Amino acid sequence: MKITTADQMLHELTTATMNRRRMLINAGIASAALAAPITFGKVSAQMDATPDDVPFESPVDVLNYALTLEHLEAAFYRDGLASIGREGITTWGYQDTVFDNLVAIGEHEAEHVAVLTQVITDLGGMPVEEAMYDFGYEDAVGFLQVAQALEDTGVAAYQGAAQYLIDSDELLTAALTIHGVEARHAAYIALLNGAVPFPAAVNPTLTPAEVLEIATPFIVS
Ligand SMILES: [Fe+2]
Ligand SMILES: [Fe+2]
Repeated sequence: MKITTADQMLHELTTATMNRRRMLINAGIASAALAAPITFGKVSAQMDATPDDVPFESPVDVLNYALTLEHLEAAFYRDGLASIGREGITTWGYQDTVFDNLVAIGEHEAEHVAVLTQVITDLGGMPVEEAMYDFGYEDAVGFLQVAQALEDTGVAAYQGAAQYLIDSDELLTAALTIHGVEARHAAYIALLNGAVPFPAAVNPTLTPAEVLEIATPFIVS
């Protein structure tokens, strides 16, 4: 990936997730992950395409791309916070309210899943379903590092996909309303991790293929 100054933050999280990708490949399960969700499969087929090619056939495909990421986030917070628990967070010195805020973020993700599922259905499409994930963290510190990767990727992914909704004012506006919330999540998680919550004046953008590179290692089936 081409790195610019504004991309530095994303480069760091990408490096972290790429290390995990390498680990998964070594374990021999990357091929299973790559075969998983149909939306990512379509995007994957575009990875060798020219930059002028459009990676989505319709607005429903764009929304399913977003839904794939939202499922990832929703499952991450739902299952992660259930297993780590309040004490698992506070034992690392975080205030009690941090757990409540993380639960609230998880509720946002569940809402994003519900809204996108409804819109896709209303448009006559078939919403993608939740997959099986392995986020690879072992404690709250690792959990928050993965959270940062997911949130930063989400923000960059919505930016990168916005151009494919340009023909629909309503869908583009709806996507932006979610994008803004993802940016708030990303800033809060960065602060928890001791990182700069707003590292640059211009936020990095990721193409669907680049998002695929980051997100696929988390999807195991
Ligand atoms: Fe979300
Ligand atoms: Fe989020």
